[in-house]
Amino acid sequence: MDDFHYRDGELYCEGVRLSEVAAEVGTPLYVYSRGTLVEHASKVRAAFAELNPLVCFAVKSCPNIHVLSALAESGCGMDVVSGGELRRARLAGVDPSRIVFAGVGKTDSEIRDALRGGARPGEEPGDPIGLFNIESEPEYEVLATAARSMGVRARAALRVNPGVKAGGHAYVETATESSKFGVDLDRAAQLLERFSHEKHLRLSGVHLHIGSSIVTPEPYAEAIARVLAMIDTLAAKGVTVDTLDIGGGFGADYQTGDAPTAAEFARVIVPMLKGRVERGLRIVIEPGRSISANAGVLLTRVLYVKLSGGGARKFVVCDAGMNTLIRPALYDAFHFIWPTSVSPQHEPIRRSATMDLPGLETCDVVGPVCESGDFFAKDRLMPMVARGDLLAVFAAGAYGMSMASRYNSHPLPAEVLVSGTHAKVVRRRETLDDLVEHELVLGG
Ligand code: LLP
Repeated sequence: MDDFHYRDGELYCEGVRLSEVAAEVGTPLYVYSRGTLVEHASKVRAAFAELNPLVCFAVKSCPNIHVLSALAESGCGMDVVSGGELRRARLAGVDPSRIVFAGVGKTDSEIRDALRGGARPGEEPGDPIGLFNIESEPEYEVLATAARSMGVRARAALRVNPGVKAGGHAYVETATESSKFGVDLDRAAQLLERFSHEKHLRLSGVHLHIGSSIVTPEPYAEAIARVLAMIDTLAAKGVTVDTLDIGGGFGADYQTGDAPTAAEFARVIVPMLKGRVERGLRIVIEPGRSISANAGVLLTRVLYVKLSGGGARKFVVCDAGMNTLIRPALYDAFHFIWPTSVSPQHEPIRRSATMDLPGLETCDVVGPVCESGDFFAKDRLMPMVARGDLLAVFAAGAYGMSMASRYNSHPLPAEVLVSGTHAKVVRRRETLDDLVEHELVLGG
């Protein structure tokens, strides 16, 4: 469970009352619970403990440097997919050896930075990051050439496409035949055979990431079984695969009770890999959402309540919108929304769209952006709200701020990290000057 709870009708994050934080820092505002982040990460580690895995937090889900450093301190490595994420991980103090770098389109300069352990040109170079998760033969060639010319030795895993259907929305499926990700198993076996002994870029790992928001362990079992069969065929030819990265994708609990915990995935996955780990296989896991989604809320202020359609439809217009949290608009994703201050009878008993409480109203919760797709919820039951009320959009810690944009020229929101009774601004709110600074070119 996360650490967002109502007490006497007031929503708290850990020991901090959220209406007070919003009054001080303003809205829209993302608030994260340090305790929840760390607890979720330790649950993943505990569930998979028998495999002694390197748990690399998927930075893309919640990339704030302070969030990363809290997770790194708790024992996580980082899974990055760009030079920007690598920069963040290094600024958060993560050791390069605990960083894995995935992504279907790494640029030459991102590759060189990662081969220097995240050091930029002009900075003191370090050892290469722990593992490059590569996605194609041309990428192998570019990376190997760079490593050779820089005189460094790096390690790579090949992302395979195991051909399983998993995950929620079609936009987050990654392992079907039509996906741009990874290499088919047959082709992958050939590449591993060819490059497993290369000096500057040893290709001795296999990487999987079969999708996101996965709520049953079966797709993992199917994908891992296919990969293990390939690994065994290679072993018979004397080719050793020493690392298996099983990716992320474990679903989060957007509506209480809806998603299994890490332990339920582990119950199926651990027995498949335990013996191999005892014989030397290294395991990497890349959870994002299952750690960060329920560790964050988005706070937004009600600007207007308006009636349309001859008074039949009620719109609650907020100061946050698809620019702040795009998931409902992009994936039709569900996020529970509730006022942060309610009468005791309206404290939510669970976080679902259907709520059996007296005096609720049906409304659409929408943002300020000039698009009809700019909504957080349609036909949603909520207590009656008025201008100035504060709403919490729950489970917004993953792919919330990380996908926020300045669309309609709204500055990006602030972020706060709560630890116990202490709330710290970990990203200041952008100003209108920040919005235009790159366009105010000096000298006309
Ligand atoms: N590893 C790789 C290689 C990935 O591509 C991803 C997510 C993860 C790990 C972490 O997956 P997670 O545990 O968070 O499911 N924007 C979408 C989700 C896109 C996921 C992309 N890849 C959303 O808001 O639902």
